[in-house]
Amino acid sequence: MLRIGIINGPNLDMLGKRDPKIYGSLTLDEINLKIKSFAEKEDIELIIKQSNFEGEIIEFIHQLSSEVNGLIINPAAYTHYSYAIADALRDCSIPIVEVHLSNIFSREDFRGRSVTAPACIGQIAGFGYHSYILAIRALCSLSLEGEG
Ligand code: DQA
Repeated sequence: MLRIGIINGPNLDMLGKRDPKIYGSLTLDEINLKIKSFAEKEDIELIIKQSNFEGEIIEFIHQLSSEVNGLIINPAAYTHYSYAIADALRDCSIPIVEVHLSNIFSREDFRGRSVTAPACIGQIAGFGYHSYILAIRALCSLSLEGEG
């Protein structure tokens, strides 16, 4: 059974109250339910974390990287400047996908730069909560290819 870790960064616990035109109206719990229901159907186990603190996110990366087959991370605003999170991701030997709810390239200039994405195999942005589901699908396809 494929086991995937999902890490959400700062302010994502406030979804539902953040600008719905950018982030939609679902809360993080509601998004997690949708992701979990997709994963259950695909027989994938998920471990989902959220933190507003850089150091705690790094601890999650260290801890999860030895417990899961793949990692999905939405580093939120840390995407744009956390070299510490980028380094932690770089030290992982499992595939990692960066996700964003919004299309970070169609927003303010500073959001168009991700310092964390180069440490991942790829990035999925702009599909709302579907970004997470697409990332799960990507990790699934890769792991099937690995078996074949
Ligand atoms: C975000 C995009 C970031 O620029 C922003 O700081 C967030 C959320 C997204 O999922 O669209 O908090 O990561």
